Amino acid sequence: MRISLIIFYALFLFCNKTVSQVSPYKEKHRPQFHFSPPAHWMNDPNGMVYYKGEYHLFYQYYPDSTIWGPMHWGHAISKDLVIWENLPIALYPDSLGYIFSGSVVVDENNTTGFQKGTEKPLVAIFTYHDMGGEKAGRNNFQTQGIAYSLDKGRSWKKYANNPVLSNPGIKDFRDPKVSWHAASKKWIMTMAAGNHIRFYQSANLKNWQLTSIFGNMEGSHGGVWECPDLFELPIKNTQKSKWVLLVSIGNGAPNGGSGTQYFIGDFDGKKFSNNNPKEKMLWVDYGCDNYAGVTWSNAPDKRTVFLGWMSNWQYAQIVPTKTWRSAMTIPRELSLQQTLNGIRMAISPVQELQKLRFDSIPIDLLKTTVYPANSNELTVTFYKKNMIGDDVYIELSNANNESIKVGYQKNENQFYIDRQKSGDTHFSKTFSAKHIAPRLINDNKITMQLWIDDSSIELFADDGLINMTDIFFPSQKLSFLKFNNFKKDAFSTKAKLYKLESIWK
Ligand code: FRU
Repeated sequence: MRISLIIFYALFLFCNKTVSQVSPYKEKHRPQFHFSPPAHWMNDPNGMVYYKGEYHLFYQYYPDSTIWGPMHWGHAISKDLVIWENLPIALYPDSLGYIFSGSVVVDENNTTGFQKGTEKPLVAIFTYHDMGGEKAGRNNFQTQGIAYSLDKGRSWKKYANNPVLSNPGIKDFRDPKVSWHAASKKWIMTMAAGNHIRFYQSANLKNWQLTSIFGNMEGSHGGVWECPDLFELPIKNTQKSKWVLLVSIGNGAPNGGSGTQYFIGDFDGKKFSNNNPKEKMLWVDYGCDNYAGVTWSNAPDKRTVFLGWMSNWQYAQIVPTKTWRSAMTIPRELSLQQTLNGIRMAISPVQELQKLRFDSIPIDLLKTTVYPANSNELTVTFYKKNMIGDDVYIELSNANNESIKVGYQKNENQFYIDRQKSGDTHFSKTFSAKHIAPRLINDNKITMQLWIDDSSIELFADDGLINMTDIFFPSQKLSFLKFNNFKKDAFSTKAKLYKLESIWK
């Protein structure tokens, strides 16, 4: 009797296996080669820093729910920007507030005096968001605090005299990105302040002086400015470089909702000047799902590596994933390129990702290719003169007639991603749409590189001059691949497809 009861109970448990019992990283829609948190809510990448062979990724994290809430800093590390190891939460909210976005630097010369042993201090500079102050209707509820780690980021201590930068009476006063400015031997803080950027400098990360403000009349102002970054980038094939200022905006991106613009100019340690006309808008990504991205501090080999949050505030909290919400983009390497219309950013997947390739799948351009699962890298090269009609596109679909189309239109000289029929789009009015990216050049030869995961697609066209990142939620994996309107001979169109290994074991 007892044995049959046990068997019955075991069967009952087995049949009632709930979603939360599906092993993490195997759930429906779970990205297979992108970073996503083991469970619960994630937004912006924070504190990205490289130290002693490890890339640290902190992130806005709410460990108690799959929607936004009291912000912590989640934490993961990687040796190669590809395989991630989840670590315990690094920063918890305290009496000064939630821990909003910010950055981490290696205090090489112990300017803070925090160093005790041989390990260099890692110093986190972040925004405190005081909910009480916000609810009371004050406008000074965001301040900047610091914390430090003397054990390679494994444990963190908040500085006793926080905040290190109090609020001058600006409601949105946040997201400090700190870097070392070698020429002036000072720390520079680039911070978002509502409709502009503020630059501060410091000798010790504790006392900050305002040096200049930028931008209230420049670029796009469709939404509040957030999550800036400032760095110098070489211009490809020259000995020259320029400074790039990234600014995410909460609304008003080219295809709607939140997105990231950039400015190119000069920076003298105190002041940024824009080299383009004030009204010129430059965009990091024309898809709808690349927000709050910034670059790794202290990255080796003088590389500038960027990572964004792969969602959009328009619908991030209601996307149909059950146990977690949101993933990051793949890491991307930034450079500058001279084009006929001026200097522009070129953005490409980091080459480390190529180690995930484990099978090259032959493509017959005349037929639909069926591939076993969804993690794929696809490169297509073709010529405008070989297009059949105005519109060529690659279509990923499934047996339920759900699809994503990624294409190029000759007359408009534009790339697009169309996710109107991509599966579940009902959760938001704005999700179902075709997103457009005007091409920056007009060459006859066109290259499109696609990174396809279970619920996202990233397009790098024209060697990275155009980026588009979009998420989607099909009822089954999109495992049919079809080429439409490409001239189908091996001379006019070349395509290469790799299957990618999962980074989650
Ligand atoms: C951007 C942002 C930041 C803020 C954080 C709060 O997505 O709004 O400005 O620090 O998210 O989670």
